[in-house]
Amino acid sequence: MSPSNTSVKLVKLVSSGAPTLANFKVESIGVPSKASLQSDQILVRTLYLSADPYMRGRLSGSQDSYVDSFVAGKPIIGLGVGVIEASTSSEFKEGDVVTGDQFLWEAKFVSGVRGFIKIPASGIAPANYLGVLGMPSFTAYVGVVTLAQAKAGETILISAASGAVGQVAVQLAKARGLRVVGAAGSDDKVAFVKSLGADAAFNYKTCGDLNAAIRAVAPDGVDVYFDNVGGEFLDAALLNMNAFGRIAECGMISQYNATADTAYHIQNLIRIIPKRISIHGFIVSDYYAKPDYANFIAEVSAMLKEGKITYKLDEVVGLENAPQGLLDLFEGKNFGKRVIKVTDAQQRL
Ligand SMILES: NC(=O)c1ccc[n+]([C@@H]2O[C@H](COP(=O)([O-])OP(=O)(O)OC[C@H]3O[C@@H](n4cnc5c(N)ncnc54)[C@H](OP(=O)(O)O)[C@@H]3O)[C@@H](O)[C@H]2O)c1
Repeated sequence: MSPSNTSVKLVKLVSSGAPTLANFKVESIGVPSKASLQSDQILVRTLYLSADPYMRGRLSGSQDSYVDSFVAGKPIIGLGVGVIEASTSSEFKEGDVVTGDQFLWEAKFVSGVRGFIKIPASGIAPANYLGVLGMPSFTAYVGVVTLAQAKAGETILISAASGAVGQVAVQLAKARGLRVVGAAGSDDKVAFVKSLGADAAFNYKTCGDLNAAIRAVAPDGVDVYFDNVGGEFLDAALLNMNAFGRIAECGMISQYNATADTAYHIQNLIRIIPKRISIHGFIVSDYYAKPDYANFIAEVSAMLKEGKITYKLDEVVGLENAPQGLLDLFEGKNFGKRVIKVTDAQQRL
């Protein structure tokens, strides 16, 4: 092994409160050789890694989750795209571009084949498989189409509307003829959300009273709320829901770093009874095996081909910057889908 590979490892789990850079360690490690492969293994060179809010749960050490906890002393693991540099598996060959959820936060690593799929040669830039053709975009599809069954003429409210999931939720809802209103955490983000076709959007950090701000953009009430943030915003959204409204409960990022003292306690849950509101929590990974996934790929690929969907990636360069790239998500410092660029498509380690 020659010494020019990088690994990002977890130092310590963080059960509550905000993680910091001290929870991660960036290490120089050796580059694995082709000769080290055992049967059914691949040697992957990482092109891009995905920084995602769900990783906060994996940092907490919870054993009561849909996804395994990270392990202190071991590399962070998550979604990525990369190139196969060597393979002893019949499923992959050298040069294949792959994506999956078993990417170590290393520039080059050896793995079994479980969790990796080949990306078809199509001219689409690989990072898009972490965004518009990847998990966040499918999450938007599941929330808007499968669960909320959003219909033309209805009003949908989307929080974190400029983010990895939110920006697609805006465009899928608009394409279905809904009135789309969104919220985001800066004026630039709000302008971007409007540029995607939202009928109205506001900066939830500067708007003052949240209930009044939602009412101002949705005076006839909200039929579907696509919740990415939870907390105070969800509470205000509950006050604005129409009868038989649906809440696609996608995420509650405002609460991921909360402690027992800072957790927000919802006050307006009682509204779900007189307004007959349904709240459907979901995890996107439950839907890959269903027809929804093929429908999503068909719809979004066609939109891409016809130039009918926009997708903003927010790229951080360098694996050594990956920990900060992840922590930024919890302070709204990303603008669009946060990816970490690790190596160039043509680069050789
Ligand atoms: N259920 C699922 O299967 C699934 C799958 C993917 C994602 N999710 C969830 O979907 C949500 C969005 O994920 P994403 O990947 O699209 O992330 P993202 O929106 O690209 O990035 C996170 C954004 O959340 C907002 N935010 C951060 N801290 C906040 C706070 N304290 N209060 C309110 N907003 C805050 C920030 O946007 P602003 O600047 O606009 O505040 C930040 O940019 C997350 O809750 C995530 O956990 C769920």
